[in-house]
Amino acid sequence: METLKDKIQVLRDQFAQAVAEVRDQQALQELRNLYLSRKNGHLTRLFESMKALDPEQKPAAGQELNAIKRHVQAELDRLENKLRAPSRSGPDIDLTLPGRVSYWGSPHPVLHIKERIEQIFLRMGFSIEDGPEMETDFYNFEALNFPPHHPARDDWDTLYIDDDLLLRTHTSPVQIRVMEKRKPPIRMINPGKVFRKETPDPTHLPMFFQVEGLVVDHGITFAHLKGTLECFLKALYHERIKIRFRPSFFPFTEPSAEVDIGCTVCNGGGEECRVCKGTGWLEILGAGMVDPQVFKNVNIDPEEYSGFAFGMGIERTAMFSLQIPDLRYFYENDLRFIRQFSKK
Ligand code: DAH
Repeated sequence: METLKDKIQVLRDQFAQAVAEVRDQQALQELRNLYLSRKNGHLTRLFESMKALDPEQKPAAGQELNAIKRHVQAELDRLENKLRAPSRSGPDIDLTLPGRVSYWGSPHPVLHIKERIEQIFLRMGFSIEDGPEMETDFYNFEALNFPPHHPARDDWDTLYIDDDLLLRTHTSPVQIRVMEKRKPPIRMINPGKVFRKETPDPTHLPMFFQVEGLVVDHGITFAHLKGTLECFLKALYHERIKIRFRPSFFPFTEPSAEVDIGCTVCNGGGEECRVCKGTGWLEILGAGMVDPQVFKNVNIDPEEYSGFAFGMGIERTAMFSLQIPDLRYFYENDLRFIRQFSKK
């Protein structure tokens, strides 16, 4: 004989099926009547059938019937809430959760500045060259007029692989490689990674990017050097940027200069400016006329040709143009930092 328990189970299954089919308030009301109506509701009838049970069976049966009644009521109430909320007709979503933002990729700020520099020099008719990051002592030092044991090497201390091989400390070796391969006229830049024996701090990194430049032809003078760099810096920053040349020393250029721009943060007016340290100027480039000895090292006749060269750090340039106080931010790979410079 079918027990009360069986009947309850059948009812539970039927109810679950019916609930899944309810799509609107009317269907819900009909379902409510079907199960709970006082006259003929399925549950009301089950409660009535309890009267026929033996007295000792009644408490357990009552408990089971109450449990299913509570279940039915709760399900119907839940359904009612769901149907009432207008946006709940679709999938079950929580509108109070914060939305998911999908980010657009963006170039790393260093890459972005590197590309801008390339664009400017391409417009001026320069080629873009490449060179190895691991160099020999000859290319990194000797051919650039740093004799062995010359004290100038100390400023370019690096990581050695063996006595002859090292991680290049500057992009200047690419000057040598290009002049070995090609005869003038030469107008080239070379952006690339360089390495130094440095502990990272706000203004030093053991790995960073430089852009090297070299122009060699008949009759190249310091005026060409000045004109080209001024034109470049105005294109990179803005037309009214202040520029000054200071005498300096590099073994591979003579004369040599360092080029400063007016501080992009305080504009020359901030005695307490942390970026220019109150000087009003930022050192941005090293440059000079190619030393005749360098030409001799690559079999170019310095009586026939002359040229100028320059080199700049890309992170420093990015730091000044984006006003970033610490070089290390570039390589911490914190997306919150990088996304600030996204063009979106
Ligand atoms: N190689 C130099 C450095 O790393 C920068 C430099 C200075 C490059 C003067 C040049 C130059 O080509 O003419 O500090």
